[in-house]
Amino acid sequence: MATQHLSFDPQAFRAALGTFTTGVTIITTQGEDGAPVGITANSFNSVSLNPPLVLWSLSKQARSLPVFSSGKHWNVHVLSTEQERLSGRFATQGEDKFAEIELDRGISEAPLLQDCTARFQCRTAFQYEGGDHVIFVGEVLAFDHSDRAPLAFQSGQYALTTRKPRNELRLATTPPPECSYTEDLLGYLLGRGHYQALNLLRQLLCNQQLDEQAFFILAVLCIRDNLDLAEINTFVSYTGHVVTLAGMRFLERQQLVAIEGEDDDLRFVLTAKGRETSLQQVALAKVVEQELTAKLGQADAQALKVLLKRLIVVSDPGLPDLWAPR
Ligand SMILES: Cc1cc2nc3c(=O)[nH]c(=O)nc-3n(C[C@H](O)[C@H](O)[C@H](O)COP(=O)(O)O)c2cc1C
Repeated sequence: MATQHLSFDPQAFRAALGTFTTGVTIITTQGEDGAPVGITANSFNSVSLNPPLVLWSLSKQARSLPVFSSGKHWNVHVLSTEQERLSGRFATQGEDKFAEIELDRGISEAPLLQDCTARFQCRTAFQYEGGDHVIFVGEVLAFDHSDRAPLAFQSGQYALTTRKPRNELRLATTPPPECSYTEDLLGYLLGRGHYQALNLLRQLLCNQQLDEQAFFILAVLCIRDNLDLAEINTFVSYTGHVVTLAGMRFLERQQLVAIEGEDDDLRFVLTAKGRETSLQQVALAKVVEQELTAKLGQADAQALKVLLKRLIVVSDPGLPDLWAPR
């Protein structure tokens, strides 16, 4: 075949290819010397159901090319969202890729990694020239899969997948002309999600005869004890609440907080009762999270958290890090 060099920009070509979202795999084999070999690859794809065939392509620059070219067996591991670091390790030349990794026994000598979303144990069926890559087509001899959420790769970055519901949600409807609120308004979605999800927690607060402000104060002191009033106010400022000394004295009377120090340097610490009360709230928040995660599915719950964290970062007024070590 005559080689045709197109005049387009290779960077732009790469960027355009990168828009095709893929999973991430690690493909392993064993060298003739018995040494395990593996690389991260997102060129994996299915080819045929019957016979069961899959393919992937390996750069001619890869150090592992001779081993894969001469080897008969290789294993494809579809990585889970928990395996991003493993992906990085197998994409880096010179790393001791298999150091301290526990392996399963497979049907061939090729290393079989654990805790993946899916695994395909293959025998090389064909090898093709593919420009600067070699294409491997493998016959699948065995496979298994789990319900671990798969890691995705999109435009040069790791990504999470989230299901796009077909009919579960009403599509954003055209608002009535006199009102610009729609079901698609971010503020409405956040607000409604917040109130619905945390209703149980509000009921607990009610039973504990505490208000939202007390909840925030106890939560802050539970993470970082021995703060003064200004520090507490800094940490709760995103809620819009302003904590006063009178408010802290109220919590002292409830025996939830103890006040230490002199008048011009008062510091607040949780009492045993305060810690217990806060821990009850955290325990319920965890139960709520478990129930919602079961309904959303692990992958969607994880994707939701990632997006909420991004929202917090882009809307952060510059708060100090409550969890930073002192
Ligand atoms: C997400 C991701 C996908 C990759 N996909 C491929 C691929 O399909 N084929 C390939 O040859 N290299 C791919 N690479 C690069 C190899 O993993 C990398 O070059 C590796 O160091 C090769 O190992 P080796 O030179 O030790 O054989 C990918 C890297 C990443 C991070």
